[in-house]
Amino acid sequence: MTQDLAPRLDAAAALTEARLSRALAGAPEDGERLRPERLMAAMRHGALAGGKRLRPFLVLESAALFGVAPQAAVTAAAAVECVHCYSLIHDDLPSMDNDDLRRGRPTVHKAFDEATAILAGDGLLTLAFDLLAGEDAHPSPAVRIALVRALARAAGIGGMVGGQMLDLAAEGRFDGGAPLALELGAIRDLQAMKTGALLVVSCEAGAILGQADERARAALLAFGRALGAAFQIADDILDVEGSVEAVGKGVGKDADAGKATLVSTLGLDEARGVLADLVAEAQAALAPFGARTGTLAAAAAFVAARKS
Ligand code: IPE
Ligand code: IPE
Ligand code: MG
Ligand code: MG
Ligand code: MG
Repeated sequence: MTQDLAPRLDAAAALTEARLSRALAGAPEDGERLRPERLMAAMRHGALAGGKRLRPFLVLESAALFGVAPQAAVTAAAAVECVHCYSLIHDDLPSMDNDDLRRGRPTVHKAFDEATAILAGDGLLTLAFDLLAGEDAHPSPAVRIALVRALARAAGIGGMVGGQMLDLAAEGRFDGGAPLALELGAIRDLQAMKTGALLVVSCEAGAILGQADERARAALLAFGRALGAAFQIADDILDVEGSVEAVGKGVGKDADAGKATLVSTLGLDEARGVLADLVAEAQAALAPFGARTGTLAAAAAFVAARKS
């Protein structure tokens, strides 16, 4: 890992952890009656103590390009991470990918039960928008509304949820069980939605928080799209080559499900070539920011080379 990237990733993770921990405290907030202990324990299991916190890091670093301090961006960063953690809890459910291990620990439905895991995911999704609506997300209501809209679009029908729907369909679940042989373009669409959208909005959030001009915002969107595509190819390579110990979740699942990925379609070598091209594309997209983007550029390389 590039020398100055590791401490910045660690700092973003620590700041995000603290913000999430505060949001997931046991005491009810204004307008709430009480917070059921089992629900809170399951939400904490799914959201605290684990994960690379890559999305919060991207929010903080992209906001920093516009002079927004980490403390001023961390609530939006925590909101994106809430949506991500909810997506993982639901992705692991028996009716979805049926996984037992996540971030090196039992999945939420294993540590608790399936109904509690569904509710913990629902709770985190709702909490994300609660966080964005609050004044500590940003003093300007217009900025808060823009964040809400962007995250909703990334998380919902044409974003992560829609992508998960396409992903299940690709396994052949609704067509008699045989996996669909998807064209490359269809795989790219699916991956851009299920995984890319939340990574793109993480970068976009920085531009929104920083009230960036259109050129800067477009550059961050282009960076996020290339980084998001690279991220999922790396995930698919890790599913083939990674070890359970290193990645902290099950491996070999895509092949078992007969899932069409860029790795299954192009083979490992060609997929690695596409991955390298995407890293270069992500880094090139940062050109308008000049020399200030060293950490984001390093993050693109990290996403491709990661072992977990
Ligand atoms: C895993 O995301 C799920 C995908 C979108 C492929 P991450 O690899 O970012 O998971 P954590 O947050 O570090 O556990
Ligand atoms: C899931 O993709 C992406 C989400 C929206 C959670 P995967 O199913 O490939 O993620 P992992 O491999 O279980 O983390
Ligand atoms: Mg899945
Ligand atoms: Mg999965
Ligand atoms: Mg995967």
